[in-house]
Amino acid sequence: MPIQKVGVVGCGLMGSGIAQVVAQTGYTVVVRELNSELVDKGLKTIEKNLQRLVEKGSLTEIERDHTRSRLRGTTSLDDLGDADLIIEAIVEQLPVKKELFAALDKLCPKTAIFASNTSSISITEMARATQRPDRFVGLHFFNPVPVMKLVEAIRTITTDPGVFDEVVSFAERLGKTPVRTSDRPGFIVNRLLVPYLLDAIRALEEGVGTIEDIDNSMKLGCGHPMGPFTLLDFVGLDTTHYIAEVMFEEFKERRFAPPPLLKRMVLAGWHGRKTGRGFYDYTDPKNPRPMRLT
Ligand code: 3HC
Repeated sequence: MPIQKVGVVGCGLMGSGIAQVVAQTGYTVVVRELNSELVDKGLKTIEKNLQRLVEKGSLTEIERDHTRSRLRGTTSLDDLGDADLIIEAIVEQLPVKKELFAALDKLCPKTAIFASNTSSISITEMARATQRPDRFVGLHFFNPVPVMKLVEAIRTITTDPGVFDEVVSFAERLGKTPVRTSDRPGFIVNRLLVPYLLDAIRALEEGVGTIEDIDNSMKLGCGHPMGPFTLLDFVGLDTTHYIAEVMFEEFKERRFAPPPLLKRMVLAGWHGRKTGRGFYDYTDPKNPRPMRLT
């Protein structure tokens, strides 16, 4: 049975982007959030993005209307019971994810494929919460989902090779470029990206350069679209800290250890763009000012 209906769990930053891209491709999508305020917030973000695409001329009004008609928000998990593929994009907490997948496992037919958009939690461990470890994969999208071309497709030692090929083809149909990887902390991108971001923080702590000079160095010297501190604020300091902890726990290598400054910023509630403060102050979002941290 080819994938026709897709259930997305979580309509935050990542979930809304995933739901949008999947609906734009032509799939029927049901996206579930915990309450109606969160559903409305997520759907509004998608609506704004679709409208922007229409204004830029990259989506026709008819395509926008068709996308809207394929997309539905819900607060009830039961509405995902007939999905062929479930993509989970909820909070990065293993017990919460396991509970969700155990409930979905009872609800969905045995043929449904389960995927997690986690950036760091073990896919194998989540799969264990279900009776379908052979139909369980990781599908890791990148922020902003409608723009970033990459999707990491993650297999575990229990994933059926046919199921894995199917989700790789699905990612291709979304217009993404999938890469195949295995269930190791950080997969490919965060395995390389996180030590780089942590090193930038250590360089700042050691007085190697200012926030702006380190950012400009990587932008202008290496052609990165964002310097490491702008990217840290964009990804979220809490998210980066969490991924680093998971990787340090697994590898016990210093390069994955969260630096003291990162930990303190997370404790202070300075999580980056989303909280208005991180390595930059976003009081004026169009003109972020570097924070005084050292
Ligand atoms: N949603 C939808 N579209 C967006 C968007 C958003 N949130 N933000 C920007 N865009 C679109 C714009 O509309 C524009 O489209 P156009 O070219 O068709 O006009 C295009 O993206 C470029 O945007 P801008 O001109 O406003 O700004 P930039 O040129 O600075 O690009 C960026 C913005 C694409 C975010 C770019 O700065 C970038 O690529 N940054 C790096 C992002 C990155 O590294 N992401 C991965 C993070 S790691 C991750 O997600 C993994 C996780 O596990 C931690």
